[in-house]
Amino acid sequence: AAAESTLAETLRGLSLTTPLPKYPNCYPEVNPVDVYRSHLTSILTEVTGVDAAIIYPALQWTQTLEKGDLVLPIPALRVKGKKPAELAAEWVAKFPESPLVHKPTVAATFLQFFFKVDKLSEILIPSILKQQTFFGQNPYLGLKDPGDSSKGKKRIIIEFSSPNIAKPFHAGHLRSTIIGGFLSNLYEGAGWDVIRVNYLGDWGKQYGLLALGFEKYGNEEALQVDPINHLYEIYVKINKDLTAEKEEIGKLEAEGKDASHIKNEGLDEQARRYFKAMTDNDEKAIAQWARFRDLSIKRYKETYARLNIHFDDYSGESQVKQERMDFAADKMAKMSVSEVSEGAVIVDFSKHFPGKAGKSLERPIIKKKDGTALYLTRDISEMMQRDDKYHFDKMMYVVASAQDLHLKQLFAIIGLMGYPELAAKCQHINFGLVLGMSTRKGTVKFLDDILRDVGEKMHEVMQKNQAKYEQVENPLATADILGISSVMVQDMSGKRINNYEFNMEAMTSFEGDTGPYLQYAHARLCSITRRAGLTPAEIATANLSLLTESHAQNLIRVISQYPDVVQNTLKTLEPTTILTYLFKMTHTLSSSYDHLRIVGSERELMLARMALYDAARVVLNNGMRLLGLTPVDRM
Ligand code: ARG
Repeated sequence: AAAESTLAETLRGLSLTTPLPKYPNCYPEVNPVDVYRSHLTSILTEVTGVDAAIIYPALQWTQTLEKGDLVLPIPALRVKGKKPAELAAEWVAKFPESPLVHKPTVAATFLQFFFKVDKLSEILIPSILKQQTFFGQNPYLGLKDPGDSSKGKKRIIIEFSSPNIAKPFHAGHLRSTIIGGFLSNLYEGAGWDVIRVNYLGDWGKQYGLLALGFEKYGNEEALQVDPINHLYEIYVKINKDLTAEKEEIGKLEAEGKDASHIKNEGLDEQARRYFKAMTDNDEKAIAQWARFRDLSIKRYKETYARLNIHFDDYSGESQVKQERMDFAADKMAKMSVSEVSEGAVIVDFSKHFPGKAGKSLERPIIKKKDGTALYLTRDISEMMQRDDKYHFDKMMYVVASAQDLHLKQLFAIIGLMGYPELAAKCQHINFGLVLGMSTRKGTVKFLDDILRDVGEKMHEVMQKNQAKYEQVENPLATADILGISSVMVQDMSGKRINNYEFNMEAMTSFEGDTGPYLQYAHARLCSITRRAGLTPAEIATANLSLLTESHAQNLIRVISQYPDVVQNTLKTLEPTTILTYLFKMTHTLSSSYDHLRIVGSERELMLARMALYDAARVVLNNGMRLLGLTPVDRM
């Protein structure tokens, strides 16, 4: 409401009528560019005679400022009988004088609109300084009814990270964590009710084996101190024993000797029995497993906190109820989705979808010969469980593209089982591989190893500039944050689907579009603010019409795009959409410093420039936090 009244005042000051006409997806209180869309739509309905409902959504934002601030593709207005060039000439001639935009220019079949930047800064900068951390967010988008907040928010489940207990946290989990954290922030900022789910790999015979391993190799103290590494060590050792046992059986049988005593009493059989006890809810077995799980989660939480990530629900394969799986199995059999083949239950997709489509989905097993359920079986029931528990409007699975087939099979089976609407609400957010992910101490096993290593590297980099280093209050903590930023920014630089090379040197460099560069840009803005020593109240009195230099004007125009960039990101679902923008903005910024000095300028000019830098800092800070980074004030 506060932002709304400031906007109304500003618009009155510009002698524009308020309230602005309402269009769907037009939110001038949170997106200043929507003031322009709305204003242009009013003018263009007069000029072209086309309906506002067609014009408004046709006004597009641009990636490059040379093309204008908004463009209109003339064919989008679907005016018959005249060529776009004729229409353009006609409309430009009729275009009235406006306080907000210059007369449009024509480029091919587009009308290009350039904002009058003096007015833009009067609308934009106060709006940013007022909204602060909220600038760029749009709480209306996630409303069930955008016109009526009492109807509540739409709900999205974002399932991400999902590591496997006692196994390495590999690159796939790292990317899922980074991308999932980002998507959660994005949807939260768009006003959705976001449920973050971590679907742990925590069930199966291997967890019976792990318990046996703990009896043999476990150490209570080590478990308490470092559960993740200790469980992994045990897991590796006991798996070695298992391999040796299998070799022994092979050897005996090759020699024609009896191996049944090993088969009946060996590790593999014991693990099977232990896991059977777990599925039968045997108190002792369950208690031991639950301890491993709880201690691991506790440690995961600490690591996630360093990445600004939390989960609302630590679900996992173990949390899928047996009744659910029985119900699903029944349903699949009754509806002839599944069939028995060589004693196992399978889904033969070629029988459900003709041609290539069916073939490409293959013939997944739903239940093994011995009756055990599988990864896919659990995912089917887990999805239905979540549907019941959360009544979500949308669900995203942030999982490596190595599991494309698995998720396609999952969604297809849910559809065949008679829940096509449920399947349609689900989306697989996939991503490529990280190549060569190793630290200086060898191949990576756990997220903590990576973070520690890049943190140490950044600490070395920081120490190269002793003078600055000495000013940083807590250099180790800062190095840690910078290290995390390095990893995250490298991960988010390309499109999700692309593979990339894990490159410690490149990611920790200040040259190029890296995490440290972005952090440096932020710290520099903070330092300008500190040195100017002006209060927000003083800055609020700035005379923004003094921002006349082309560098100032370009910066204002770039900054004004931020809410549109965020909204566009809801379509691309790519962190790189935000990141590319932030680099564009910081480049514009760094080329401005020499032209827009604070120190040595007259007070009036100082105030105006400070307001601009403040607005830039808010946008950079918001963008970084949206990505999951922690902006630093000094480095
Ligand atoms: N724990 C699995 C893995 O590490 C990822 C889980 C993905 N999510 C799912 N619903 N299947 O491969």
